[in-house]
Formats: sequence, structure tokens, C-alpha cells
Amino acid sequence: MSRLPTEFPDFGLTPEQRRHAVRGHYYEWPGMDGERGEIWCYSDRFSYRAGEMVTLHVSSTASAFSMTIARDGGSETKMFEKSGVASRWQDSPDQCSAEGCGWEASFEFRVGSDWPSGAYRITLIADGRDGKPIHSHHLFIVSPQPGKKPGRVLQVAATGTWLAYNTWGGSNHYQGITGPDRDQYSPIVSTQRPWCRGFVMLPTDAPRVPLEVAVPPKTVPRYPHMEWALATGHSKKYASSGWASYDSHFFRFAEQAGYAVDLVSQHDLHFSPDILDGYDCTVFVGHDEYWTWEMRDAVDFYVERGGHAARFAGNFMWQTRLEDEGRRQVCYKYRARAEDPAYRGGDVTRATNSWEAPEIGRPGSATFGLNATRGVYAGWGGCAPRGVRGFPVYRPEHWAFAGTGIYYGDLLGADSHVYGYEVDGLDFEIRGGLPYPTAASGAPDGLQVLAVGMASQVEESADIPIEDQFLTDEDGRFTAETLFGDASDANLEKVKRGNGMIVNFPRGKGEVFHAGSCEWVAGLLRRDPMVERVTQNVLDRYLGKS
Ligand SMILES: [Fe+2]
Repeated sequence: MSRLPTEFPDFGLTPEQRRHAVRGHYYEWPGMDGERGEIWCYSDRFSYRAGEMVTLHVSSTASAFSMTIARDGGSETKMFEKSGVASRWQDSPDQCSAEGCGWEASFEFRVGSDWPSGAYRITLIADGRDGKPIHSHHLFIVSPQPGKKPGRVLQVAATGTWLAYNTWGGSNHYQGITGPDRDQYSPIVSTQRPWCRGFVMLPTDAPRVPLEVAVPPKTVPRYPHMEWALATGHSKKYASSGWASYDSHFFRFAEQAGYAVDLVSQHDLHFSPDILDGYDCTVFVGHDEYWTWEMRDAVDFYVERGGHAARFAGNFMWQTRLEDEGRRQVCYKYRARAEDPAYRGGDVTRATNSWEAPEIGRPGSATFGLNATRGVYAGWGGCAPRGVRGFPVYRPEHWAFAGTGIYYGDLLGADSHVYGYEVDGLDFEIRGGLPYPTAASGAPDGLQVLAVGMASQVEESADIPIEDQFLTDEDGRFTAETLFGDASDANLEKVKRGNGMIVNFPRGKGEVFHAGSCEWVAGLLRRDPMVERVTQNVLDRYLGKS
């Protein structure tokens, strides 16, 4: 392994700017580029089938734009090109993140009958007022037609999480301009707005969240991804979610490795759960934090009936609800018990809170074997910044590791840093040198723990002052309250030490494999042979090839 640098990368920001990069609230908004002008675009839906009409809503300071559409897969294929499309500036409501932009339709086209399922990137270019070009990117998904798809993999893009982190318009499920002081995150986010900068496309040198730094002792944490975002004009959340940082790396890898892959959005899973029926293997990747009850039903029924679900993803945390035919995603999160109408006469099992809240009673482990609150942060901030970079392997004889050459006690994917920045885990114990889920863990019957690493839900350091902590113990206190009724020190003590696992279990006639880390895709991006081999072992077995 090459040695890591002992200093944080520097992107030329002043100390004040560095603080703003992490603590501040900056986001994309219409008018942000001032005199130069802007062009923005969204589509009426996230996904379409071949033959369906796509409506683009464009707002631009220029009177005309040109556009190209390229399929972003194992290779890049230009599908469509047009110039001289008329455009105009369209006003957006102040609360467009929650309400939608409400722009009039600007351009419509039909998805070609020969356009294969996958991700399609739209690049729009126009003249800026300073004579230099202005541009933006949008992405839509072409979903497969229903029916039997022998030998094909179905990838479900984590669009619920994209939506939750989209900074465009000022509000998302993390920060926002809602509330009397315009400083609250929004429990409601709209699909009817552009993606923030860096969700569709990124330069290859964009930092990922986990640190590529050997952090010296007593060092105040820094956050290279947010510093880079501020320094280069990308979204503060570009590294937390989106096609460019996560889903794309699996899709491109799988196509390049020779797999036939179809792509759907989570909206497809929610509204057309039968789409799973045609596939022997369904895959979920990256940062995959927000799901609806209906999406989980779809996966549970699919696996019961003989389907195979492979999740190479982390942070199975929040229940959401979809409203307005899917155009609105609702998640009250930390404020759910106080504000979510589901607690005031609604069906409380549908509350937009942690899946592990007792009143919901449907821990994530019931679907994918692992839970978010037993996992969480690793490899950044004050959460195991020098922790394992790969999964510590305990059961190397398992079929998933065939041909990797890995041993008991080895780290899987350490060179490519697949372990972090959010991981999912289970309460477990070690007996005879092997990990087993505890009786109270919520693990499904027959679950085997193949690998376990440590993770932390709180930043704790005797050496770093509290004002220099970013993650603090806020999430830990919330989990303590959600699971045990109050955020006391004693309850925090019960939840603050987490772990991240690779697990495998049968369910009904089907099976689930779960490598519970957001960063698994980093191993595919960085061409880590062991990570590629494990991924292929899982796909091949679930497609019936091995
Ligand atoms: Fe997350």
C-alpha cells in the first residue's frame, strides 16, 4: 500500500472559508452566478420507459441553448443532439426546494425505442452574458420494460437519498431556508428542481468523504470534500450522494465487466414493484439512506418468492413517504415525533422516523440484515479517522470470497478504502474467534457475519475542543432517545459504539447479501481486484452462473 500523506490536502481557502465550507450553508439558487447568467434544467420525472415522452423544464438567461444526451454506462454513447432550442428565464418560488420550481415545459422528446435501460446525462450549453459559455447537467433514467430478464442484473438507483441531499434551491433534509429564521432543514423536498452541482458529473480528482490522510495525533479534523466543494463551486453535498459519486461506479463497473444491467429509480420500486419480478438479481449501491414502506415491501416479497438482493451500500436509516404522485418526498427525521402528522392520528408505523423507532417496528435488518443505528461513521471527522479502511474478514471460506486469496483477519478493500463513511451493523458477540449476532440484534434467522469493522456514532476526543467538532454526539443522542426514550448519558453509552458488517442470509426461497458500506463503490472506482472479485462472485451466484 502506498503511504498516505500526513497533511490534509489544501484547496487554497482561508481558515474562515474552511470553517464556512463545513459549518456554513451554501447552495445553488436561481441567480447565483449574477451577471454571467445561468442555465438550469429538470425533468418531470426521474425515470421513463422507451417510447415515453420526457418533458424538460429549463430556465436560462440565454434565449437559446443546445443540448446533448449521452448514455453514461460502461462506455459513453451520444444518443441525441439539438441546438437552437428557445429558452427564457423562469421565476422560481422562494421555497422551490419544497414546493418545486413550477417552470413551464421548455422541450419535449420521446425516449427512443432502441434506447437501452440506463442513466442518461443531459448537457445544456448556452451563451453567458460575458461571452463565455454557461452550462448545466441533468440526468434521467431509462427503465426497462417489464418482463422476464434472464441473466440480467437490475440496479436500483438510490434516488430517495439523492433527493434528500439535493442542495438546489436552499433546502434539503439536512439544511435549509425554511422556518421563521430561514435556518431549518425541510421535511418536504420536491423532485421538480434541478440537481445540485456535482450530482450528475464530477471531475475525477473530486475528494471522497473518507480521509486519504494519515492523521497525526491531536489534529483538529478537516473535511477535504467540503473544502473542495466550496473552492470549486460544487454542492456542499456532492460527496454525500448522487449518481456521480456513488451509483455510477457500480453501473459502469458492471457493464465493463460484461454484465447486462438495467437501471430503475426507487420511484419505480415504489410505484411499480412488479419490475423486480423479471430479475434473478437486484442490486442496491452507495449511500442508500431513504426508503418508503412500499419499497421495502417490494424487496421483501421479491426475496421471499426466490429473488436475490445484493446490497453494496450503507446507512439504511429513514422511512420516507411519497406524496403528489411521487413529486414530494416527506421525511421529518429528528423532528418526527414532534411534527410528523403520522403521530397525530395517522398510521404511526408510517412515521418518517428511524426504521428502528419502536413505534414503527420495522428495523432495516428485517429486509437487509443490518441496521443503521448499530453502524454509522468511519474514516472521517472525529469518527475512527485512523480506523480500518477495509472490512476485517472473519469467514474467508464463504463463497463470496472464493478466488480472492483472502485470509482470516485480512482487510478486504483496504487499499481502495471501501469501509466508510457510513456503515450498517448489528449488535454481535465473538465466540471462538467468530462473530455472531446477539439474540436481541434483530438479525434474520440464518444470518452469517462474514466481516466486521468498528464504527462510531459520536465524536469523542479529550484533545479536540468541542467547537472544532462537527459531528459531535448529536446523532448518538438522537438514537439514544429514539431507541430508549431519552437522550441520557446512560442511553448514549448503549448506542455510541457501532460496527459495519458484511452479512449473508436466506429468506423464503431467496437470499440477501449485504456489504454494509457506502464506500464499496470506491473499490470498483479504484479497480481493487479483491473488491471486484467479491462483487462478481455475488452477481454470478445470484444470476445462477456459478
Ligand atoms: Fe447518510
